[in-house]
Amino acid sequence: MIRISEVFSEFTNQIITGIGAKSARKLGSEYFLVRTNDPHEIQESDAGKFIRWNLPIQHSWPCNPEQMEGFVEKAAQAIYRKFGKLTFQAIFIGQLDPGASNRYYKSLASNLRGRALQLFPQKIAEFKEIEAQNSEVPTLFCLVGKEGLFCGVQSPKAANGLYPGGTKYISQSAPDTISRAGAKIAEALHYLLMHRSAPAKGSHWLELGASPGGMTSELLGRDYKVTAIDRAPLDKRLDHHPGLRFFLSDVATFEPKGRTNFKAILSDMNGEAQDAIRHVIRLSKHLSHGGLVIFTLKTPGVATFAEINESFVAVVQSTAAAGLRLFARTHLTYNRLEFTLFFEKDSLS
Ligand SMILES: C[S@@+](CC[C@H](N)C(=O)[O-])C[C@H]1O[C@@H](n2cnc3c(N)ncnc32)[C@H](O)[C@@H]1O
Repeated sequence: MIRISEVFSEFTNQIITGIGAKSARKLGSEYFLVRTNDPHEIQESDAGKFIRWNLPIQHSWPCNPEQMEGFVEKAAQAIYRKFGKLTFQAIFIGQLDPGASNRYYKSLASNLRGRALQLFPQKIAEFKEIEAQNSEVPTLFCLVGKEGLFCGVQSPKAANGLYPGGTKYISQSAPDTISRAGAKIAEALHYLLMHRSAPAKGSHWLELGASPGGMTSELLGRDYKVTAIDRAPLDKRLDHHPGLRFFLSDVATFEPKGRTNFKAILSDMNGEAQDAIRHVIRLSKHLSHGGLVIFTLKTPGVATFAEINESFVAVVQSTAAAGLRLFARTHLTYNRLEFTLFFEKDSLS
């Protein structure tokens, strides 16, 4: 089962054939059941970066739960029969249509998980925090919706997300939310946990293209220090924040003073991806060894599937030559027609 965001709907066929899949059946608004010879192709192919989340399905029960008497009990017993002898760290169950306004499937997923946990050994039943999963250890993930129940065992890292379906919901309605980009960095930092630890509290970030400051405020809220640059101003609510230095200028002319060393660079600059990554590379000489880069790869004016892939390859080639190693790339829930790329600065560069 693969999940392709609706923002990529015009590329669905190319994505499905790109991972070597032969047939597809749509489930909910963003999921597809596909048949592949080699599930590893899903993550590794060019098309893999368009796939938010994936799960090898080992148990499926196509049915309409709303019309099925005793669905929760029957489904929980079936899950236990199928997976009772397998080894995994936790059980998490989500809904096939996470955007549904009707909460029926949200509570069904929660009730089904509750009942299934009663049937499994204590160790699994005690596992409550999604974030506490070991990203390398298999978890039993299930998704339920009006098309039925679909379950499989896979590590969060191979599935590409700690949550069933890959989405961590981040509220964007708080009165102090400056821009929706705040949710993007919050989700990116959560996703990062599957690959490495986040920079320690107090670490100094360099932020390129920061206005109006949604991401800046998220970083400051995590007790990071931020040097932010944009040719447009930041939201007034960030004025005088003790952890923030802001430069109203073009990134092209920015040069940090003295021996400033950053633990991380964040770039959400709009415009050509090649221009943006050139700025990141130039400024990465001020990044510590092992330092982190989070880069939004935007695709303005890039119309086709092939052009998006070419832009991605060009960015990764230029960063590799500069000693920045790509260790993860994904399409986050809060990404539009763009990807979030994660790099680490080589220890030797
Ligand atoms: C998508 S917005 C950033 C949103 C921001 N991350 C937030 O959290 O609110 C992109 C920003 O990049 C800035 N930008 C693009 N190229 C730039 C450059 N060369 N120098 C300075 N700012 C640049 C734009 O002015 C714009 O404010």
